[in-house]
This record gives sequence, structure tokens and C-alpha cells, in this order.
Amino acid sequence: MGPALWYFSRATGLVSLVLFTAVVVLGALGAGRFESRGWSRLTTATLHRNLALTSVLFLAAHIISAVLDSYVQLRWVDVLIPFVSAYHAFWVGLGAVAIDLLLAIVVTSLLRTRIPARAWRAVHWLAYLCWPVALVHGIGMAESDANRGWIFTLDLLCVIAVAVAVVTRVMSTHPDTEARKLSAPKEATR
Ligand code: HEM
Ligand code: HEM
Repeated sequence: MGPALWYFSRATGLVSLVLFTAVVVLGALGAGRFESRGWSRLTTATLHRNLALTSVLFLAAHIISAVLDSYVQLRWVDVLIPFVSAYHAFWVGLGAVAIDLLLAIVVTSLLRTRIPARAWRAVHWLAYLCWPVALVHGIGMAESDANRGWIFTLDLLCVIAVAVAVVTRVMSTHPDTEARKLSAPKEATR
């Protein structure tokens, strides 16, 4: 396949990061009970869920193409077990950590009505660890990239978007969010 697979892998990695950023932004806005005229909380929740599932598809494409690309020496085990890869062990390892956390978040979310709310929320908060780990993986892998200038600009925009959403969530004075600040994750409601 030559460089086509490599470009495909990098492009799907970048799309995954952008989608993933949107998912975290929408999650934090939802938790902060953000809404405005023309943008309901239901819109936030629906987009959050659907983009989360879409990002999983792009991540699957990113990972499958990276493993199939013969230039990059990756084994399937490197995808899930961190820091065992012969190729950029540390940076690829961060990608594996992000995937492990993401799987836990998505699986518990799909089973959300069947597990205790506390357990679901405790796992879901790992998103705030998963996202920066995935971002740093992308930055590390793009280090030797000739186009790293605009890639780092994109990374910076993602950081700003998440920072604004998290500040909005922390500053929210909505009673639901206030209640969770005092008791979460122990007595958090959904
Ligand atoms: C099937 C997939 C998912 C479902 C159904 C889901 C559902 C939810 C729900 C219901 C909330 C609570 C919003 C509220 O309090 O009103 C939430 C919050 C959140 N979600 Fe997800 N989510 C999913 C996947 C993800 C993924 C993949 C990520 C990112 C890794 C993520 C990141 C977040 C964040 C950061 C919050 C805010 C947590 C907080 O500050 O309390 N979610 N999600
Ligand atoms: C949440 C999980 C992940 C995200 C958001 C993500 C995102 C990214 C991004 C943004 C890049 C940089 C693209 C560029 O340089 O243009 C990248 C590169 C790369 N990622 Fe990931 N990645 C994730 C997980 C993984 C995993 C688990 C693996 C291991 C199989 C992996 C393997 C690679 C490789 C090999 C590259 C270099 C591009 C290439 O040569 O094919 N990624 N990733």
C-alpha cells in the first residue's frame, strides 16, 4: 500500500483527536448543565453520545491502518498493552493507555443503566485523564512530521476548547452541578 496507508493512519489519528476533543467538551458542558436559546441539554447529550461512538470508529481505522502499515513495526498486542512496542515505545504506549481508558469509559456507558451510578461516574471521570494522554500521544507521534506546525496549532485549539469547557463546568452554579461538587463521586446522581 506504500505511503497511502501511512497517510490514512495519520489522518484518522487527527480526526479521532478532534472528535475526542468535541466529546470531552460536550461531556463537560453537559455536566455543567450548559444550555442556551437554540441549544438544549438534550442536543449536548445526544451529540456527546453519538460523537463518542463515531470517534471509536475513527480510532479503529487509525489503529488497524497503523498495525497493517508495514513501515510501522506494530503488533496487535501493542494496541492494548502499554509500553511494549518496539516502535516509539513511550509514545505508542500512551496511545495504548488512552485506548484502555476509552474502552472502560465506553463499555460502562453502554451498560450505564445496569451498573451503580457511582461506579459509572468514577470510570467516566477517567475521561479527564484519557484525553490529555491521547493528546500527548498525538504530539509525540507528530514530532518528526514535516507538517507538525499546523498539527501543533490544531493541538493548541483542542487544548483551548477543553480548557474553556472545563472552566464552564467548574464555574457552573446549576444546582445539579453544585450537588455533585460536594459529594461526587460518592453520592453523585446521574
Ligand atoms: C457511549 C458513550 C458515552 C455515553 C452514553 C456518555 C454519557 C455521558 C453522560 C450521561 C454524562 C453526564 C452528563 C451530565 O452530567 O449531564 C457524561 C459526561 C461526560 N462524558 Fe460521557 N458518555 C460517553 C462517552 C464518553 C467518552 C468516550 C468520553 C471521553 C473520553 C466522555 C467524556 C465525558 C466527560 C468529560 C463528561 C463530564 C464529566 C463530569 O465532569 O462530570 N464520555 N457522559
Ligand atoms: C485515543 C487514542 C488515540 C488517539 C486520539 C490517537 C491520535 C493520533 C494522532 C493525532 C497522531 C498524529 C498524526 C500525525 O502525525 O499526523 C497519531 C499517530 C500515530 N498513532 Fe495514534 N492515537 C490513538 C491511539 C493509538 C494507538 C492505540 C496506537 C497503537 C497501535 C496508535 C498508533 C499511532 C501511530 C503508529 C502513529 C504515527 C502515524 C503512523 O505512522 O501511522 N495510536 N495518533
